[in-house]
Amino acid sequence: MNSDVVINPTKTDSTSSQKTGDGIIKVSNLHKQFDTKGGSVKVLENINFEIKDNSFAIIFGPSGSGKTTLLNILSGLEPPTQGTVEIEGEDFYSVSSDQRSLFRAQTMGIVHQVNYWVKSLNVLENVAMPLYLTGVDRTIAQKMAMQNLEIVGMQEFAHSRPLVLSGGQQQRVSMARALVANPQLIFADEPTGNLDSKNGKMIMDLLLKCQRELNRTIILVTHNIEYLPLSDTQLYMVDGKITQSGKGQNVPMTEIINSLKSELAELSKLEKDQQ
Ligand SMILES: Nc1ncnc2c1ncn2[C@@H]1O[C@H](COP(=O)(O)OP(=O)(O)OP(=O)(O)O)[C@@H](O)[C@H]1O
Ligand SMILES: [Mg+2]
Repeated sequence: MNSDVVINPTKTDSTSSQKTGDGIIKVSNLHKQFDTKGGSVKVLENINFEIKDNSFAIIFGPSGSGKTTLLNILSGLEPPTQGTVEIEGEDFYSVSSDQRSLFRAQTMGIVHQVNYWVKSLNVLENVAMPLYLTGVDRTIAQKMAMQNLEIVGMQEFAHSRPLVLSGGQQQRVSMARALVANPQLIFADEPTGNLDSKNGKMIMDLLLKCQRELNRTIILVTHNIEYLPLSDTQLYMVDGKITQSGKGQNVPMTEIINSLKSELAELSKLEKDQQ
């Protein structure tokens, strides 16, 4: 990580995150439902949890349990139907959407489950985008974008269009874009889902480095239970509800086994569909 580069002098400096023990995200009585043509669908129900500053939190659970919806709400992309999300003590949805967007650009790095690219721009410009949004000079932004592409081993694709890359390559670029502005909070939705074990390890090492050396807070959605021991907070989701456990309070084995069973059922269904 280019931790020595000053990205945005107006931004809170990393030492502010060293007051460990403070809740950086507090979710209270959160509900989400989508109104569709077929009626309303309840996706999240009475979610309550807290993530401490400088944590490595993992959200896991079966497909369709609401993980991406929750991450979208936490990162300001989707308002809840009911309840509050406090970030650093501020009600995130009580501010204007412009303020929320600015806060997101300055504070959050997001690796989406499905990549969103500005298709007319090349990889370098896409990675530089969070810096452009916070007013960083274009030449400096591109230099920093290139440094971050080098970190994920994607510099040779800087001038390609993102959509010509493989799914795994896009995930690595997406990681570079999430980290380029040195954000305080990093949300990553299945960032290793399309990667081989070597690149998966590289992404996980980067996330760990962000937490342990740069005091960032990581919120990772993953199906890979091998990563659970790396986390200090586990949020286990089933049918839009959540069970939280923290340090020394590991998620009960029965929950992990149930999660695995439903993943296996999903996989065998996919295999059957493909036959
Ligand atoms: N915009 C929407 N409109 C209607 N239903 C939605 C919408 N977004 C999500 N859902 C539904 O909400 C539920 C949870 O979806 P979500 O994507 O949050 O699950 P997930 O846990 O991330 O699953 P996966 O592990 O497969 O990524 C699903 O049943 C999904 O169909
Ligand atoms: Mg998802």
